[in-house]
Amino acid sequence: MDKKSYEASWECPSNIALVKYWGKKPGQLPMNPSLSFSLKKAQTKTRIRIEPASCRKVEFLFEGKPSAFTGRVEKYLAAMSLEHEWLNNYAFYIESENTFPHSTGIASSASAFGALALCLVDLKQQVTKKTFTPQQFFQKASRWARLGSGSACRSVFPSFALWGRLDDVPNSTDCNAIPLTDKFHPAYQSLRDAVLLVDSSKKQVSSSAGHELMNDHDFKDVRISQANKHLSQVLEAMRIGDHVRFFQLIEKEALSLHALMMTSDPSFVLLHPNSLSVIAKIRAFRQQTSLAVGFTIDAGPNIHLIYFEQDKQQVHRFIQDELLPLTEDGQWLDDCIGNGPRKL
Ligand code: PMV
Repeated sequence: MDKKSYEASWECPSNIALVKYWGKKPGQLPMNPSLSFSLKKAQTKTRIRIEPASCRKVEFLFEGKPSAFTGRVEKYLAAMSLEHEWLNNYAFYIESENTFPHSTGIASSASAFGALALCLVDLKQQVTKKTFTPQQFFQKASRWARLGSGSACRSVFPSFALWGRLDDVPNSTDCNAIPLTDKFHPAYQSLRDAVLLVDSSKKQVSSSAGHELMNDHDFKDVRISQANKHLSQVLEAMRIGDHVRFFQLIEKEALSLHALMMTSDPSFVLLHPNSLSVIAKIRAFRQQTSLAVGFTIDAGPNIHLIYFEQDKQQVHRFIQDELLPLTEDGQWLDDCIGNGPRKL
């Protein structure tokens, strides 16, 4: 065995879904295709050093301390090592940090597993002395990230990523996300996401338990066809620049996700009364100003206000005046579409 130590460091963004992944097939494959954009500021930085060892050992520090995430990383590496023998010959020293605060309504597992998977693919190149093409590298990273957290597979690409087989998109697959290089209306390259922190309490249901509720859901088949239809329609709206349709569709997606949770067995209401007030304010603001704005929501109470760069000044004034009083201690995060991961 090669007696050398190796090191890899990557920074990877989180992403926000416009068409939601909700429900899994065996093998951590999605029940339906999803679409997201990568964020710019919300990033995880991860450094992995591996040293030759007689059996796998994992030390994981998050922002300098052992964390609740350690168990999940150990389990992930144990599962990965069943298929990737070389992982068993090293001790892993992993250090990770986020550029965004905890419980901000941004999925940190997406950026965390994205960064981890990028480091692992990088280390695999070094250990096996094999060089992947950039396309092979990021495809592999997307696959490996998916095994940690489904939505993480979309985080390893810049701007828009599609995960899951969609009939009208060649190369789309359930196994990894693909970057979308379509000719969208230029406005979509200037999308912004203002994350309004309505409630930071711990989630009532983990996303893996949430995905499981889809297996026997009364609306399972309808949801699968709805998501496929929405995805094709969102892509079309982005190509022709139909902003009104775009925001109608992404809001319908977010509310469908919550409708599915409300009608699951058991049922979960994850929205907070203030989430509904924020939604009502956003819709009233859109009607008064005719600006192209709308919202999306993940599996929690926080609202992502989506808008275009050119309207930033007006939207920021609206946030300050009308939305911040409805947030927890005026907390919000001002992010935008980003350029994907970066080797450090
Ligand atoms: O990647 P997971 O298992 O945490 O699932 C994330 C699911 C949603 O955030 C609700 C939707 C999505 O597509 O990101």
